[in-house]
Parts: sequence; C-alpha cells; structure tokens
Amino acid sequence: MVPSRRIRSVEKSKTLAITDKAKALKRKGIDVVSLSAGEPDFDTPAHVKEAAIAAIEEGFTKYTASTGIPELRQAVADKLNREAGAEYSAENVLVTCGGKHAIFSSVLALCDPGDEVLIVSPHWVSYPEMAKLAGATPRFVQVREENGFHVEAADLEKAISPRTKLLIFNNPTNPTGAVYGRERLGELVSVLARTDAYVISDEIYGKIVYDDVAYVSLASFPEIRDRVLVVDGVSKAYAMTGWRIGFLVASKPVAEAVAKVVGHSTSNATSVSQKAALAALTGDQSCVTEMRQEFDRRRRYVCERLAAIPDVRCTLPEGAFYVFPDVSAYLGQQDGPADSFALCDRLLESEHVAVVPGGAFGMEGHIRISYASSMEQLERGLDRIEAGLAALRRA
Ligand SMILES: Cc1ncc(COP(=O)(O)O)c(C=O)c1O
Repeated sequence: MVPSRRIRSVEKSKTLAITDKAKALKRKGIDVVSLSAGEPDFDTPAHVKEAAIAAIEEGFTKYTASTGIPELRQAVADKLNREAGAEYSAENVLVTCGGKHAIFSSVLALCDPGDEVLIVSPHWVSYPEMAKLAGATPRFVQVREENGFHVEAADLEKAISPRTKLLIFNNPTNPTGAVYGRERLGELVSVLARTDAYVISDEIYGKIVYDDVAYVSLASFPEIRDRVLVVDGVSKAYAMTGWRIGFLVASKPVAEAVAKVVGHSTSNATSVSQKAALAALTGDQSCVTEMRQEFDRRRRYVCERLAAIPDVRCTLPEGAFYVFPDVSAYLGQQDGPADSFALCDRLLESEHVAVVPGGAFGMEGHIRISYASSMEQLERGLDRIEAGLAALRRA
C-alpha cells in the first residue's frame, strides 16, 4: 500500500504514541500513572447531560444544518461579543466536531501548496501536521522561556514572510500554560496589522486562567478582526471531550469558505451534542468555576513538588492545565537519556509514569505534565517522577 504523498509527509501524534505505550503497559497489568492526556478527569455537568437526554427523547436525532443549530451559533456569537466587544452574528459562527475540526477545516479552507503557516512554538502537536495535510509548509517562531514563554512582537515580525498565509496562535497555551494579556496581544496585533496574514487564535483554554490573569480574545482588536479566526469549544472548559463540539468564529467570507469544508466532510456536528453544548454555554457557569478552582489547587501542588526536585525549573502556568518544567539538567549525561523523548521513555518504562516530551511540541529540555488528573494520581505520578530523576542523579 502506498499512502498519498500528503499522508507520507505527516507524522503520527507523539502525544498519542506515549498514551498508547502507557495503555499497552496497563493491558499487561502494570499500574501506570498517566499524566499525558489533555483531558479533564471531571464528569460532564449533570445539567448538560440532561439536555442531551431530553434531545434524544424528543427525537432530535437527525441531520442539522451543516453550520450548526441556529441557537447554538447565536450563543457562541453572544459569548464572544460579550468577551471581545465585537458584533458577530450567528452567521459568523460554525459549529464543528471539536476544536480540532475547526482548526483543520480552517487550514484547508485558507491554504494552498506553497503557502507558509507560521506556528508559535512550543506548539500543539497537530498544527504543523494540519498545515502539511493542506499542502502548505509549516514554519515556526520560537518563544523564549525567560520571557514567560510569550512570543516577542519583534520575533514575530522577523518570522513573517511574504508567503505567510496564516499564523496559528494558541492562548492560553498548550503546553506552556502561558497567557497573553491585552498589552502583549496589542504588541502582536500591531505587527499583524501591517501584514495580510490570517490568524487562527485557538482559545480553547480561554476559561481556564488563574489568579488575576484575564483571558482576552484576539477578536478584541477591530484592526485585524476580519482576518482573525477564533477557535473555541466545550471539551476543556465543560469536561466534554467525548461530545466533540467546537466552534469557529470568523468574518463572513472566511466562515463561508470553511463551511464548504465542513459541509463536504462531516455534514454536521452531532445533533444531540449540539443541544448539550447549548446547555453548557447558556446554563449555570458555576461548574466552570469549580473545575477551575480544582485545577488551580492541582497546579500549585504540581509546581511545589517540582520546585522541590533538584535542578528542575518550573514556571507557574497562568492558564490551561499543563506544567512544562525544564529538565535539561537530566539530559545528555553519560548513560543518561539523550533528550526529552528518551527521558519520557525511561520514566514510563522504569517508573510507570507517562508524561510527554517537550521535543514533541518543538522545545527540547522540557516535559509536559497534565494536571487534568485527580490529586491522588498527581501525588503518585510526582512521587514516580521524583524517584526517576533521583535515580538519574545517582547514575
Ligand atoms: C491547543 C488545543 N487546541 C485544540 C484542541 C482540540 O480540542 P477538541 O477537538 O477536543 O475540542 C486541543 C486538545 O487537546 C488543544 O490542546
């Protein structure tokens, strides 16, 4: 079998690879602590489930409009208008099968072979592969750790070329937990306003920010709003990963172009899930606050534990549910792991704890720990990470 050139250019997801390895060990009866997946351990809120059950009982089980049910599109527009002071209508919104589908459909709708897709890195593993699937070329602009993992406007400006069709930007950021406030965004916007590049602003973690950090949507800046595609969804904020509902909000010509991809690929997102997502967005938001408070408690715990391990440096994340510590002191020693991939393999094989190598996100010397797991799992997982690193120090 010879797969298409397009498929040959694409790598398998490295986060899924480590999760698969962990699952294989679990199948052998080994007690593996998995801190690799970006999936909240909470149950979907009861009122959301009830809305879905009611939808099934009422027979709301047929195709919907391929762009999504009007009331959900309107609820998404209303939410973003409140947050960004914008004037979107339901026609600016597409409901998709998860945020991932919104991003992929947008990349396909915007990019031709020869176009460059600029990605702020470290980056979510799927972005470059999506660019390649569209025949475009991924390019990267690296953030600096000493800058709190935020990309500098000057670095962005240097990285943009006449062939840059699209920038993919994630705020709050997976894997670093960095969040861009209004001032930092404003600096980036002043660079972007001088280009004609489109920007996918992946804001799927927008509701998961801590302390006095505020989530500011890139749609808050009218000067580039026509070229901004905001991606959001219910997976992370409402513990609804399996329901597969995401959103795209964009100018009408962009939304219409992306709607063609959606219409010819998935027809529509699951009818019942759309009703559930509507209940999530329009219902009581205390579930979001409660989950955020619990994530916050875990975030502090993980960072305290990491800070107590010699030679591990950890920046306190401002959002999302990942910690991205620097473990470079443990790499490249004689007989030790050469890089973050080898370290994660070793932690999984000898300590039975699964975390993701920073190299998978485009930043060596780090590992990503997801704290979307229970406190009990985190305690056990950190004990194992601590023991694994202590063994490397002794070696
Ligand atoms: C940065 C980022 N964007 C988008 C997604 C996609 O989320 P979903 O397709 O479940 O809505 C994820 C999930 O891990 C993510 O981490």
